[in-house]
Amino acid sequence: MKTLYRNISSLVMPADEIGVLTTINDAAILVEDGKFSWVGESSSAPAANAVVDLAGKCVIPGFVDSHSHLIFGGERSEEFAARISGKAYSAGGIQTTVAATRAATSQQLRDNASKLVAEFYSSGITTFEIKSGYGLDVATEKLSVEIASEFTDEVTYLGAHVVPVGQDPDQYTALVAGEMLDGVKNTAKWVDVFCDRGAFSVEQARKVLTAGIAAGLKPRMHANQLENIGAIALAVELDCASVDHCTYLSEQDIELLSRSNTVATLLPGAEFSTKSPYPNGGELMSRGISVALATDCNPGSSFTTSMPFCIALAVREMGMSVDQALWAATRGGAMALRGNQGSLAAGEQADFLVLDAPNHLYLAYRPGVAVIESTFIAGKSVYERH
Ligand code: NIG
Ligand code: FE
Repeated sequence: MKTLYRNISSLVMPADEIGVLTTINDAAILVEDGKFSWVGESSSAPAANAVVDLAGKCVIPGFVDSHSHLIFGGERSEEFAARISGKAYSAGGIQTTVAATRAATSQQLRDNASKLVAEFYSSGITTFEIKSGYGLDVATEKLSVEIASEFTDEVTYLGAHVVPVGQDPDQYTALVAGEMLDGVKNTAKWVDVFCDRGAFSVEQARKVLTAGIAAGLKPRMHANQLENIGAIALAVELDCASVDHCTYLSEQDIELLSRSNTVATLLPGAEFSTKSPYPNGGELMSRGISVALATDCNPGSSFTTSMPFCIALAVREMGMSVDQALWAATRGGAMALRGNQGSLAAGEQADFLVLDAPNHLYLAYRPGVAVIESTFIAGKSVYERH
């Protein structure tokens, strides 16, 4: 079955060069067996079994969200309200969600994640990573990665999110790098550590990540969200696929990242919801660093599933052009997962979005408005706006 989508006003996709997009006007795409089989100008489109007229709309690749925490119980709206009135964010809030997650049934955790995944589709996210990290005991971390794996292949083990209340940090680190890792290593693909003030030190992060690598997992990190404790050097040394947050970076960190394969993943929803300063993503990109944008969806620091909201924030607050932000939400996210999603090239899986807009600028030009009209994964519709 060959389906031709034609009358696309602008077909916009990330180029190899950081922050640069390629556009084809008056374009068409041919989808065959879940993949793009031809992409180009309408005038030279091949024959198809079915033709869909997109009436002058814009088509872009599906967004790649390389950072989310969807396995949790409870919610923290009161904490958010207190913060907006001036109370500082700290890693300690995570403990509230740990208690609620342990108290939840597995079906409640699954249903909550499923609802959030449906929101991802409506916001145009077609590839997403999910972390554990609100269990913090062997059984609940194992359950968390198992539920995550029902929704995605990009499952991350974050046993090292914070040290649970009342436990010794070094003993807990040994558990995360030992028995807990054994319980998750066949299900998770990635190992992550929150290396920051109030969470894990660089030395503890090294123990967890090297144990994870030895068990066959690939490393990534949460770092420099609250303070710069020297985590970037470790991320680069261990060839982490990504180092996430990067709210506070030194000049030396920027140089290290620019000479590495480690993506800087920026999470503007977290700066928004914790009233923190925004890092300058535009500057990082101009310094040769591959930047990703991700939702960081979690009940504490960033309870959003909206990639267009993150794009709008990046454009308004992070020194990024709309082109740079769209590149970061597609190619950047794919690079942060060491994958090749976020493309519209012939041969790739047909993950794409139809925007109710003539061009991609509307993603930021119409903040807070549902501009995603439909979302396709492997050529199949997973969301239609009504
Ligand atoms: O990415 N920084 C650590 N983890 C989450 C926050 C988790 C929470 O507050 O529940 C984050 O922002
Ligand atoms: Fe996070």
